[in-house]
Amino acid sequence: MKKEKTNKATVVVPASSANLGPGFDVFSVALKEPTLTIYAELRDDENIRIVNQGSYASEVSTNPEQHSGAQAIKNLLEDKGIRKGFDFVVWVDIPPRKGLGISGAEAVGFIYAANHILSLNLSEIEIIKYAASAEPGMHLDNVAASALGGFVITLKDSLLNKLTARKIHPPEDLGFAVIIPDIKKTSTATARTALPVNVDVKKHIEAAARCSLIAYSLAKDDIDLLLEVVSYDPYAEPVRADTGIYGEGINRETLMQEKKILLERFHVAETISGAGPSRLLWFRKSENQKTGSERPIDEAVKLVVRNLEKHGHKAVSIIETEPSNVGCQLL
Ligand code: HSE
Repeated sequence: MKKEKTNKATVVVPASSANLGPGFDVFSVALKEPTLTIYAELRDDENIRIVNQGSYASEVSTNPEQHSGAQAIKNLLEDKGIRKGFDFVVWVDIPPRKGLGISGAEAVGFIYAANHILSLNLSEIEIIKYAASAEPGMHLDNVAASALGGFVITLKDSLLNKLTARKIHPPEDLGFAVIIPDIKKTSTATARTALPVNVDVKKHIEAAARCSLIAYSLAKDDIDLLLEVVSYDPYAEPVRADTGIYGEGINRETLMQEKKILLERFHVAETISGAGPSRLLWFRKSENQKTGSERPIDEAVKLVVRNLEKHGHKAVSIIETEPSNVGCQLL
């Protein structure tokens, strides 16, 4: 069947939580909530115009020079030698600078819509590549989850000089609570400069083992193992914690102690979402049915909120959600 030519498209893109403990720049998961909705329309000239609407409209730039979606589109159009422009309207319902992958979601949404309108037939990995071209360090994790949905594993293959991304269907019984604190992060780019370039061999071995077990537990639907192995990262989280990115006064000791208590007392795992400051709490839905009495996940959320408050911070929002098995899609 011949595809109808169109000059407009609306897409919905899931937020994402990247790293997932030890999987810095490798693992990510798409979230059912929150999402971005993006309307795109072809222009007669080569300009990119952006209008923001929705809950966080005023907090995101409409300047194409500072917008990840616009940067990604420019890279795509330049690469393909296409002289076109777009109008975009973005319903910004993912909170910015909170580690929930808004820049990756914008970039995926713009590329996905342009691919549809211009009939470019981009493959999944090309969509990921162009979307990641606007991310600091071109990290693939957030964009891969927003594009494909589910859990993703990404690789920049320096032997074969190519990108690889694979999706794993999320376990049915897995739930998330996202705690979004009032802590202000300057940028993901700055958070990346805190990381050591060289990694201690013992830390490398532990990170590799934990990442492999995360992949194993997802493939086997083994949520108990997943909660255990995802809870600790020997590389990025401790260093970033010590720089105060996750909140003034919160360091590696306080964070690790909190993670241990959550696991042991409530069977809940905690990871920092992307570069932070949001906290992602992982739980089994079947162990947390609403029955009238307090659920373990509610107590876990309370504990994390209390610890934030102890250091002079507060939670501005708590979202109970779950992995989204679908990535960016046309509305
Ligand atoms: N892997 C990236 C980082 C994710 O932690 O810098 C940013 O959301």
